[in-house]
Amino acid sequence: MRSEESLPAIAIPLSMTVTVGVAKRMPAVFYAVFSVLCLLLYFATTAYGADISGWYWKRPVPFQGISPEWYGNLGISLYPEDCGKCHVSQYREWRDSLHSMAIGPGIKGQLAPYSDPSFAGSCYICHAPLSEQQEVLDIAEGYAKNLQFDERLKASGVNCAVCHLRGYKKYGPPSPGRLQKSSVYGGFIPSPFFESSGFCAPCHQFPEDGNAINGKLLENTYIEWLESPYPAMGVTCQSCHMPERRHYFRGIHDPGMVSRGLEIVVKRMKIRGVSSAVLTIKNSGVGHYFPTYVTPLVTVRAFVVNREGVEEEGSRKEEHIGRIVTLDLSRELADTRIPPRGEFIFDYKIEDVGVDAKLVMEVWVYPDEFYNRFFKAALEAEYFTSEKEMKEALEETEKSKYLLFRKEISRVDEK
Ligand code: HEC
Ligand code: HEC
Ligand code: HEC
Ligand code: HEC
Ligand code: HEC
Repeated sequence: MRSEESLPAIAIPLSMTVTVGVAKRMPAVFYAVFSVLCLLLYFATTAYGADISGWYWKRPVPFQGISPEWYGNLGISLYPEDCGKCHVSQYREWRDSLHSMAIGPGIKGQLAPYSDPSFAGSCYICHAPLSEQQEVLDIAEGYAKNLQFDERLKASGVNCAVCHLRGYKKYGPPSPGRLQKSSVYGGFIPSPFFESSGFCAPCHQFPEDGNAINGKLLENTYIEWLESPYPAMGVTCQSCHMPERRHYFRGIHDPGMVSRGLEIVVKRMKIRGVSSAVLTIKNSGVGHYFPTYVTPLVTVRAFVVNREGVEEEGSRKEEHIGRIVTLDLSRELADTRIPPRGEFIFDYKIEDVGVDAKLVMEVWVYPDEFYNRFFKAALEAEYFTSEKEMKEALEETEKSKYLLFRKEISRVDEK
C-alpha cells in the first residue's frame, strides 16, 4: 500500500503518461494538439477534485501528525463537537445517527482493552478507526501502548475526522462555487470519492475473502447495491442515506426510513367460504436487500381477535423476513430477505371470521434481533468484560423493536 505522503494531489498521472507516451511517436502538429488536450484534462480533473480512493481508507487511519499552526485552536481539534461549532447542522444530524454511537455498550461490554488486542483491533477498523482512537498499536514486535490514545475521541466512534481528516487536511465533496481556501484552516481538498458508494464500502462490505456463511458474505451491502438497478440510475448510498448531503445515516432503526423503502399492500379475498388475506411487501426503495444484514429480523403476523379484543387461539400465523444465522455464526438457518424490487408474499387463510371478530395483520421490526440473542447468551455464559455494559446493551436491543404496519379487517370491510 502506498503511503499518504507519496501521493500526488491530482488524479491525472496515469491518463497523462499514457497519452504522452503515444504522443512522442507522432508528428509535431499532433503533439501540440495532444499537449493542449492533456492540459485541458489536467484542469478538468483539478477543478473537479482529487482521486483519493486508492489510499483514503487505509486503517487504522495514520496519525494526523502535527497540526499546521495557522489552523488556530478550533482547527486542530479532532473532536466532533469542535467541528460542530462551525458545521452546526452536520454535527446535529451526525450526533443523532448510529455513527456517533459506534462505540456503544454492546461493543465495549465485549472487549477488554489489552487482553486480546488483535481481536479488538479487528473491530475498531470499522467502529473507531483513527490511530488516535487505538489503545494499543500493532507494531512489528507485537503490541505497544499508544501514547497518543484519546479515550474521549474513541467514544465518539465513527466521527467527522474518520471520514474527513487525513494528515490534518480536510477532505470533502466538490462544491462548485464554495471557497476552497478559507481563512479558517487553509482550505479543504475536494474529491468526488465522497459522492460515490465506494466511499461507504470499506465498512459496509466485507472483502471477497471475508467472513461468510453458506457461501455468502456476512456484510455484502455494496455488492447488493452494485447488482441492483440503482447504479444505472445514478442513485448512490448517499442519495438515500445522506439526502442533500445531510448527515442522517438512517437505516433499519428508523421506522420512517424503512416505510419509505417499502410498499405494503393487503388484499382481502373470499373464495368458496374460505377467507384469505394476502399481505405483500415490495422492496420498492431499498438500495440493497431488505434488510441487508443478518442482525435485524422482520416478522409478519396475522391473527383473529374476538369482540373483546382477545386473540383467538390457534388463529395466529407468523413468517419472518431476514437472514437468520446461528449465534456462533456457523450456520445459516434461513434467508428470506427481499432483493431490490422483489416481493414477499404472506398468505393467510382462515375459515369464516365471526360477526364481531376482526382479522389483524401486523409487521414488526426487530433491528437488533441477532444482538439481542447474542447478549442474552453472553450474559448467561458470563462472556463479557463488563456485566453492567452488557446488561445495558441487552436493554437497548429490547427497546429498539417497533410496529411498522398494522391493519384490522372486520367482516363489514369484506363486502
Ligand atoms: C472555525 C470554523 C470551522 C471549524 C472549527 C471547522 N470547519 Fe470545516 N469548514 C469551515 C469553512 C469556513 C469551510 C469552507 C467551506 C464553506 O464555505 O463552507 C469549511 C469546509 C469544510 C469541508 C469541505 C466542505 C465541502 O464542500 O466539501 C469539510 C469536509 C469540513 N470543513 C469538515 C470539517 C471537520 C471534519 C472539522 C473538524 C475536524 C471542521 N470542518 C472544523 C469552517 C470550520
Ligand atoms: C461516515 C462518514 C462521514 C461522517 C462520520 C461525517 N461525514 Fe461529512 N460527509 C460525508 C460524505 C460522504 C459527504 C458528501 C455527501 C454527498 O456529497 O452526497 C459529506 C459532506 C460533508 C460536508 C459538505 C456539506 C455540503 O453541503 O457541501 C461537510 C461540511 C461535512 N460533511 C462535515 C462533517 C462534519 C462536521 C461531521 C461530524 C459532525 C461529518 N461531516 C461527519 C461523510 C461523513
Ligand atoms: C469507518 C467505517 C464506516 C464508514 C466509512 C461508514 N460507516 Fe456506516 N456504520 C459504521 C458502523 C460501525 C455502524 C454501526 C454503528 C452502531 O450501530 O454501533 C454504521 C451504521 C450505519 C447505518 C445505520 C444502520 C442501522 O442499523 O440503522 C447506516 C444507514 C450507515 N452506516 C450508512 C453509511 C453510509 C451511507 C456510508 C457512506 C457515506 C457509511 N455508512 C460509511 C461504519 C461506517
Ligand atoms: C467491516 C466493518 C465492521 C467490522 C470489522 C466490525 N463491525 Fe460491528 N458493525 C458494523 C456495522 C456496519 C454495524 C451496523 C449494522 C449491524 O447492526 O449489523 C455494526 C454493528 C455492531 C454492533 C451492534 C451495534 C452496537 O454498537 O451495539 C456490535 C455490538 C458490533 N458491531 C460489534 C462488533 C465487534 C465485537 C467487532 C469485532 C469482532 C465488530 N463489530 C467488527 C461494521 C463492522
Ligand atoms: C434507494 C435507496 C437506498 C440506497 C441506494 C441504499 N440504501 Fe441503505 N437503506 C435504505 C433503506 C430504505 C433502508 C431501511 C430498510 C433496511 O434496513 O433495509 C436502508 C438500510 C440500510 C442499513 C441498515 C442495516 C440493514 O440491515 O438494513 C445500512 C447499514 C445501509 N442501508 C447501508 C447502505 C449502503 C452502504 C449503501 C450503498 C452501498 C446503501 N445503503 C444504499 C435505502 C437505500
